[in-house]
Amino acid sequence: MPTQRVRSLIVPVTICAAVTLSGQGAPPPAGIQPTALRVEYLANPLAVDAPRPRLTWEFVPTAVRGARQTAYRILVASRADLLGAGTGDVWDSGKVTSGDTANVPYGGRVLKSRERLHWKVQAWDERDRPGAWSAAAEWTMGLLDGRDWAARWIHDPGPAVADVSATCLRREFTLARPAVRAIARVSALGLYELRINGQRVGDRQLAPEWTDYTTRVQYQAYDVTPLLRPGANVVAATVADGWYAGGVGLGMIIAKKPRNVYGTTPSLLFELEVQHAGAGPTTVASDASWAATRNGPVRSADILNGEAYDARREMPGWDRPGFDASSWHPVAPGAAAGAGPRLVAQPNEPIRVTQELKPVRVTEPKPGVFVFDLGQNMVGWCRLSVRGRAGATVKLRHAEMLDDSGVVYTENLRGALQTDAYTLRGAPGESFEPRFTYHGFRYVEVTGDAERPRLEDLSGRAVHSAVTPAGAFETSDALLNQLWKNIVWTQRDNMHSIPTDCPQRDERLGWMGDILVFSQTAIYNFDMAAFLTKWIVDVRDAQAGDGRFPDFAPHPFGKNERFTGAPGWGDAGVVVPWRAYENYGDTRILAEHFDAAARWVEFIRRENPDLLWTKTRGNDYGDWLHGDTLVAEGWPRKGAEVPKEVFATAMFAHSTDLVSRMARVLGKDAEAKKYGDLFAQIKAAFNKAYVGADGRVKGETQAGYALALYFDLVPEALRPAMVRRMVAGIDAYKGHMSTGFHSTYRMMMELTRAGRTDLAYQLALQRTFPSWGYSIDNGATTIWERWDGYVKGRGFQDKGMNSFNHYAIGAVGEWMYRVVLGINADPAQAGWTRAVIRPQPGGGLTWTRGSYHSIRGRIDVSWRQPSAATFSLDVTVPPGVTATVFVPARDAAQVSEGAGPAARAAGVRFVRMEGGAAVFEVGSGQYRFAVK
Ligand code: BGC
Repeated sequence: MPTQRVRSLIVPVTICAAVTLSGQGAPPPAGIQPTALRVEYLANPLAVDAPRPRLTWEFVPTAVRGARQTAYRILVASRADLLGAGTGDVWDSGKVTSGDTANVPYGGRVLKSRERLHWKVQAWDERDRPGAWSAAAEWTMGLLDGRDWAARWIHDPGPAVADVSATCLRREFTLARPAVRAIARVSALGLYELRINGQRVGDRQLAPEWTDYTTRVQYQAYDVTPLLRPGANVVAATVADGWYAGGVGLGMIIAKKPRNVYGTTPSLLFELEVQHAGAGPTTVASDASWAATRNGPVRSADILNGEAYDARREMPGWDRPGFDASSWHPVAPGAAAGAGPRLVAQPNEPIRVTQELKPVRVTEPKPGVFVFDLGQNMVGWCRLSVRGRAGATVKLRHAEMLDDSGVVYTENLRGALQTDAYTLRGAPGESFEPRFTYHGFRYVEVTGDAERPRLEDLSGRAVHSAVTPAGAFETSDALLNQLWKNIVWTQRDNMHSIPTDCPQRDERLGWMGDILVFSQTAIYNFDMAAFLTKWIVDVRDAQAGDGRFPDFAPHPFGKNERFTGAPGWGDAGVVVPWRAYENYGDTRILAEHFDAAARWVEFIRRENPDLLWTKTRGNDYGDWLHGDTLVAEGWPRKGAEVPKEVFATAMFAHSTDLVSRMARVLGKDAEAKKYGDLFAQIKAAFNKAYVGADGRVKGETQAGYALALYFDLVPEALRPAMVRRMVAGIDAYKGHMSTGFHSTYRMMMELTRAGRTDLAYQLALQRTFPSWGYSIDNGATTIWERWDGYVKGRGFQDKGMNSFNHYAIGAVGEWMYRVVLGINADPAQAGWTRAVIRPQPGGGLTWTRGSYHSIRGRIDVSWRQPSAATFSLDVTVPPGVTATVFVPARDAAQVSEGAGPAARAAGVRFVRMEGGAAVFEVGSGQYRFAVK
């Protein structure tokens, strides 16, 4: 089974609370029991490269107040029966006094390639009572050294250029005895789909996914034991161009290459290791004994352009023994696995089909042109049932929007065709689903000479990196709820091995500025630990020798050339690992990344010795898509853009601050001081150059104030004046934002920090243009790239840059979790050991409920304010987490918790009054605070 997460999907808070925390009268079971065991953030991974893998667990939810782990014991065994008998022959940690439940490093002997380990964990609670052992879990080590591979890269030796059909490869082999365990390790330069004895292996899509193939290529491991049998077996693979040899976003613009950015020849790497009882293993590897053909059904496949499939060319039985492959030719064996780019086990969740959407309607805007509406802007592909004669072809064109005549609008896709074609073999029950491409779309145009399609013939298959949902959000306000849904969909739609800017046009790149602003929202929505751990390595792989980070990663176009080193984009190389550390308590990501982050800051400093980032700003995007870029009736205003040197210097300061904080966490005291001092000097330079004595920030923009406030660049005494100026800026735009990518959510956060949450709600709920509400009222089901992507009467924005599926301004999701629900981590402690629950009602909302599944378990919050006079707050805290709870009240005596009036039940400690709230401290358990 491929690696996958076991944690259940988020279910509505109330239901879950009833299920897990009921049984009020029954005596609580003694102790706490670990569950949801993970290794390097994944459940039961089959290939782990970390020499000392880190182990993480949570606890079975309990209603017990103040439950927490005070000690743990981990057993790691070489066999399941040994583990079952309580023997940790590989490692027995013994009872370790510690509250740690996340990223606990394995501490036993050195682990070898291929080793399979079984493990479980037990915890002692706050009363030192040992609880029940967890269920058993396992992991298998990857191939830790290139020399551990027996396989060679193989490819079809036929002509490379012009012919873009996918390659089919096969090999028959004989097993003398049954398989006890069989692991296949597979990779490709390109994309592969693997079959054994007629069955598809695993449910991964677009493997081996995207990395800088010149540096690092991922492989995937599969347990294929049930697919094998004694006697003849066949392994068969289709290998397509993918990112390696097909089109890559901006490839034409930057490298003048419509395809072949990394290489010209897709290749396969395969190794199967079969264990038998009482005999040595059998190994089957990709080598000269394989056969290949390009006469299979996949005639062309390209990530950006789509897939063409000719069912007449299917080769029944090609993936089973006994097939006549005499017309196939021998493969060309290439480099040995260990001699090519570094092979690494995929460290994050696979791309998968995660859901299927049924169309809500089909129209026929022109005769023979059928347009399906899936009701949701989504990413993936379609499955189509089709009827017709052999040789008839149906074409599917994918688009995000319709034009005024109801025809698909494709101009904003630029060079990406997003078109699939299926040629029928003329058999009953034909259906088509591509596998070597993906599209961003809500609408699908079906044309061709097959029979007229019916509504039920088509479905949309959502395809993305299958990260586990972590957040839930619902309120009494329908607009806010739709906004949250749009943010979540946009995130789903933009995770394909890397965090992309957009999923539809010929771009789809890991644009760093976008994930810089969106990373915290992303973390609230989904468990991003493994995904970001993978991507931050892509960022390092793309860092130039002079310390410059790229503007997007992976960066296939050369390290010191165009599209590197831009303020607010390169800085993601500092901000994103810091976010991962803050949320997952991951110190290893900081340790591995610290030098890269410091080199980035040194690069900026070297180029700008006066500490104002005025020189060497690369493409210098600034606060991208600020108010001046809007084109609409009543919005020809100018002056919204924060001056680029102000923006850049603010980013420089922030990155330096974070590098100093990283050093402190890592115990690098000298560096912590060095970068702390540098941060102070940059701030001084910033204030001298750009901030007036009256608090005016050069440019007098909403964005300038938001950034200076958010990054703590200005003296405390100036903050009130600057907030006043920021608010005046909002007034000047008649209660609207004129901010860009980087300053939009930061202004929301700063309004709240300054006590103007009322105004933040007003912006969040604004329906007139520009606003999130405007897009929703115009049918948006995802976040638009531009506030004015479509404006009634005016039509579409510039077709050259107009995505309807771009998460950057969806970073407001962070404000929604932090302020509306009030779920925060204590900034002083990484890894959610301390939560700060501080909901700030407003905007006329009468109730909310939601949750965040942190690395330490799920935190639930719901509040009700049916009238101005009553307020209640329900909070559920998982074992091991302490929560500081802010309950809006004039004084503590107004607040009751638990049964009786003004009662304060066990485990609730009043701490202080602060900012119009009574502040309490609680441990695990379920609490209801009522304010009269
Ligand atoms: C992308 C953005 C990206 C930007 C750089 C655009 O084409 O779609 O989201 O951050 O370029 O400014």
